[in-house]
Amino acid sequence: MRDLYIRWMELPEPVPGDSYLARLPVVKHLAERKIEFHKQVTFFVGENGSGKSTLIEALAISQGFNPEGGSRNFNFHTADTHSELHTHLRVARGVIQHKRGYFLRAESFYNVATNIDELGIAGYYGGSLHHRSHGESFLALAEGMFGSNGLYILDEPEAALSPRGIIRLMQRMDELVAQDCQFIISTHSPMLLCFPDAEVYQITKNGIDSVRFQDTDHYRTTVRFLQNPESAVADILGYETEQ
Ligand SMILES: Nc1ncnc2c1ncn2[C@@H]1O[C@H](COP(=O)(O)OP(=O)(O)OP(=O)(O)O)[C@@H](O)[C@H]1O
Ligand SMILES: [Mg+2]
Repeated sequence: MRDLYIRWMELPEPVPGDSYLARLPVVKHLAERKIEFHKQVTFFVGENGSGKSTLIEALAISQGFNPEGGSRNFNFHTADTHSELHTHLRVARGVIQHKRGYFLRAESFYNVATNIDELGIAGYYGGSLHHRSHGESFLALAEGMFGSNGLYILDEPEAALSPRGIIRLMQRMDELVAQDCQFIISTHSPMLLCFPDAEVYQITKNGIDSVRFQDTDHYRTTVRFLQNPESAVADILGYETEQ
């Protein structure tokens, strides 16, 4: 891929006022330094509430996606749950435009499935997504509907997936990366973070830093835990362990 569809995003000015958005550390950091995209796959990791959804949702809306998720053809509307960050954002696009795309918003995937049924286009998805489990329907989407030259903005795609489901998603992503797609993903999955040649931005109170996946808190905590689960659990719960 010669160029990315999204090259960088920035806040030219801090968000004015005293709203939660103006006070959110990630938003303040973005006003100090732009986030550059260097790889076809970019991950955002960070604690619950660190602002990953706020960030990638604003990016998705700025690119014309429906705030509640879906491809750019979706414009259903059930509730105003997105922030106004997108109105402050400046985004640099590459020279070549993406041909298709999808914004996965975990909280409203159900509504996307309903909208697909209502539009009478379930046939393109291999049938109604409501007739499959949450994970099955997401994989049907990624395997059936995601295609070449696409921009995919995904908020915790692992939420519905088993470990094998995550592996299938990684295999599909690998195919799509070879077909000039760009992925911008928020995740808590240490497995997904291992995707090759991806850039990982870790969001903390101190900033938004590009790190190796091995240095993320998610990866380290999980590895430490799984290396010795009995002792890790005993430690956390304050139990004595047999030596
Ligand atoms: N409408 C709102 N009013 C006040 N605070 C809000 C509102 N929406 C989000 N927030 C706060 O903004 C912060 C960032 O939320 P966000 O959903 O972006 O976090 P996140 O990193 O995606 O978390 P998670 O990993 O749990 O999905 C949170 O502390 C949240 O409570
Ligand atoms: Mg979130």
